Amino acid sequence: MPRSGPLPAAFSLLLATAALLPGPAAAQNEPRINASEDVVLHVAGVAVTLQCNLTSSPSPLAASYWVRNGEEIPGTRKVSNSTEYRILKARAEESGEYLCVFVFSGSPVANATIEVRATPDITGHKRSENKNEGQEALMYCKSVGFPHPEWVWRKKVNGDINNSSGRFFISNKENYTELSITNLQINEDPGEYQCNATNPVGSVSVTTILRVRSHLAPLWPFLGILAEIIILVVIIVIYEKRKRPDEVPDAGPMKTNSTNNHKDKNLRQRNTN
Ligand SMILES: *[C@@H]1O[C@H](CO)[C@@H](O)[C@H](O)[C@H]1NC(C)=O
Ligand SMILES: *[C@@H]1O[C@H](CO)[C@@H](O)[C@H](O)[C@H]1NC(C)=O
Ligand SMILES: *[C@@H]1O[C@H](CO)[C@@H](O)[C@H](O)[C@H]1NC(C)=O
Ligand SMILES: *[C@@H]1O[C@H](CO)[C@@H](O)[C@H](O)[C@H]1NC(C)=O
Ligand SMILES: *[C@@H]1O[C@H](CO)[C@@H](O)[C@H](O)[C@H]1NC(C)=O
Ligand SMILES: *[C@@H]1O[C@H](CO)[C@@H](O)[C@H](O)[C@H]1NC(C)=O
Ligand SMILES: *[C@@H]1O[C@H](CO)[C@@H](O)[C@H](O)[C@H]1NC(C)=O
Ligand SMILES: *[C@@H]1O[C@H](CO)[C@@H](O)[C@H](O)[C@H]1NC(C)=O
Repeated sequence: MPRSGPLPAAFSLLLATAALLPGPAAAQNEPRINASEDVVLHVAGVAVTLQCNLTSSPSPLAASYWVRNGEEIPGTRKVSNSTEYRILKARAEESGEYLCVFVFSGSPVANATIEVRATPDITGHKRSENKNEGQEALMYCKSVGFPHPEWVWRKKVNGDINNSSGRFFISNKENYTELSITNLQINEDPGEYQCNATNPVGSVSVTTILRVRSHLAPLWPFLGILAEIIILVVIIVIYEKRKRPDEVPDAGPMKTNSTNNHKDKNLRQRNTN
């Protein structure tokens, strides 16, 4: 067995050391970050602390800072291998994707992601929408909260929206949803419309009241004024008709009121002249 000599043994030792050497070398070149676990906000208003510790760095550290939803958080920049970000009263608004970023002099940046998840919160919607029949109604909802929600529109009482008439249009974006109804029908469309935002943490919904008025509605103020004018004219006519026969006995008792009688006399004198 000449092959199993000292040469292969030396070769295998060489292989072993070669395999061992890149190990520590790679560890020194690869930055390592020990970051806090992801956070789920079940209750709003609690304090949350996010931490990142740089446990291995390839070259000297130049800076560290925090990023939220892709934007650097102002005032978090410092030079330290251990950094934390505190949210004093965490609400859905503060949820999102947080990154701690370590910048080195002479090697690429390293970062770690910490997700802060929360039940969506609806921050904007119309409480009511008042339209005339035949017009278009537009309802919307805006949300905060990570992950972005799935949106559902429903009609109270009826449940799911009945689009058999093809007049309902829904447009969803990440944190915004819109429901528009064209050619409003006075006997089908009025009611309470609910937008529901649901993500893996929880769900929330708000209501918009849709009122649909008749075509004639814009005429009502005009018709009201017209009716008022007619009533006024009728009253004046009746009053005038009743006043005329009264004028005869009015001219009779002249001596009762001195000042009025004086004017009457003057008038009468002028009339006789
Ligand atoms: C990372 O942090 C956890 C505690 O948060 C600790 O148990 C673990 O040993 C740390 N890992 C390293 C590599 O420092
Ligand atoms: C980071 O290091 C500090 C001590 O310097 C320790 O208290 C903390 O638990 C560490 N955090 C993580 C996420 O490892
Ligand atoms: C972080 O830096 C300090 C000195 O600034 C050093 O004492 C400590 O060992 C470093 N920690 C790690 C995990 O590199
Ligand atoms: C985070 O690290 C990745 C590579 O792991 C890089 O592509 C990305 O640009 C970094 N992001 C930031 C904000 O530094
Ligand atoms: C939807 O509305 C139409 C009338 O507009 C009605 O005939 C139909 O039964 C409704 N469908 C559902 C599922 O309610
Ligand atoms: C309702 O029907 C119209 C016409 O078929 C369609 O364009 C629209 O997307 C539908 N809306 C919904 C919410 O399904
Ligand atoms: C969320 O909505 C705001 C406006 O209210 C908008 O500026 C922002 O880009 C939206 N964010 C996402 C991730 O859709
Ligand atoms: C929203 O819709 C989901 C799915 O249909 C339902 O489970 C949840 O109860 C609704 N949430 C609210 C607040 O109505």
